[in-house]
Parts: sequence; C-alpha cells; structure tokens
Amino acid sequence: MSDACKLAAGNWKMNGLRADLIEARALAESCAAMSCGVLLCPPATLISAMAEAVAGSKVMVGGQDCHANVSGAHTGDISAQMLADSGARYVILGHSERRADHAEQSADVAAKAQAAHSAGLVAIVCLGETEAERDAGQTLDVVLRQLRESLPEGAAAANTVIAYEPIWAIGTGRTPTLEQIAEVHDALRVNLPESAISLLYGGSVKPGNAAEIFAIANVDGALVGGASLKAADFGAIVAALDAA
Ligand code: 13P
Repeated sequence: MSDACKLAAGNWKMNGLRADLIEARALAESCAAMSCGVLLCPPATLISAMAEAVAGSKVMVGGQDCHANVSGAHTGDISAQMLADSGARYVILGHSERRADHAEQSADVAAKAQAAHSAGLVAIVCLGETEAERDAGQTLDVVLRQLRESLPEGAAAANTVIAYEPIWAIGTGRTPTLEQIAEVHDALRVNLPESAISLLYGGSVKPGNAAEIFAIANVDGALVGGASLKAADFGAIVAALDAA
C-alpha cells in the first residue's frame, strides 16, 4: 500500500442484466462504512440504472470503454461524454480483452484516455504481458512500453489509474507470485508521470487472496472480474482493501 488512493474496481465485462442491480445495491449497503474507493463497471446498458440504484452510496459507476471522439458517425460506439452523462465517473481503457478482440493499440488507448479526461472521467488504463512474454523474460519491457505509449499528456493522479493485469492470470485462477506482482508494481511506480497515481493489480483476485495482494507495498487496490459479480465476494475484497 502506498500513499495513493485505494480503489477496489469491479469489471462486470459482458455480464449483467437489470435483475443483477440487486448485487450493486447489496454492495452499496455492505460498503457503507468503508473508506476506500469502490467502483463497479457494468456493461454500458446498465450504467445509468446502476448509477441510480447506488446513488448516495459509496459505490461509484464506470464504463468499460469509450470512443476517442466526442460524437459522430461511429455506429455502436459510445463517447466519454455519454458515459459521464449516464452517471459514470471512471472508464476502463485498454483492457487486454479489447486489445485482443478489437485490435486496440496503445496509441488508441492514449487517445481514448485523452477523451476520458476531457469529459471529466478518470481513466483506468490496463497493462499486462502474455504468458509467452513472461516466459521470455520480457514482462517489464512490455508493461513499461505499454505505460509509456498508453498515457496521454496531462495524465495525473486526479484523472488516471493504472491496472496491471497479466493476461495469463485473467479468469484462470492463476496469479503471479507476490514477488512477481511487487516487481512489476515497483517498476511502474517509478515510471509514472505522477507517483501518486493509484496502481491496481488485476487477474484472479478473490476473497481468499486479496489480503496478501493488498499487503504488497505498491499495490493500491484491485481490478476484479468474476469475483465482482456477486456482492458477497466483492464486498469481502473491498473489506480486505479497507483493512490493508
Ligand atoms: P478476473 O478477476 O475474472 O480474473 O478478471 C480480471 C479482469 O480482467 C478485470 O479487468
């Protein structure tokens, strides 16, 4: 844990219908006394309804992607301003699933982050190596290059969060060793444009491993996929962060 703000962020990915807002409401109740930041990023279809469901609580709402432009002929896309208008305060950008499924490059991520900042959103910029890159000893090179290339001018603690998510740890139940997480987070910290930017770890974070991950010096929170879908699991992760 560093001096940066603590944040537990849930990424619902392409999961969630209106009936699942009950989980967001339950989380809001269980987190009422927590002092760390708590964020849920549902699919775009639920942002506005979730923002209403958790209004007045600790739980903040975010998007999972935005377009780099403010408006225009981009069928199916959503601008940062639209996310903000729907009640979002954050947006996840450059997730490895978007980099893989939509061929997003770090330069695209930087342009989207610039758009997010202009709309008053905090950009959660995701970085992470493949298993082959780790096996080849390239982890720090890959992650630091992504950091350099994915952040726009003006990225600072007030508008940017970094999430380190090793691709091979996402949804697999496998996590790096605590030493491996520490190595990457230490390297990220000294290469940030502003050292108070929060650094999240993501990839198979669960109630059972959250406390040991949050005890690592430069880990300020987590970006959680599967375990964020149920309030009981995510609430336990938030409690572990709050206690760290
Ligand atoms: P899991 O927590 O399901 O491994 O997903 C991590 C992730 O990709 C969050 O963005």
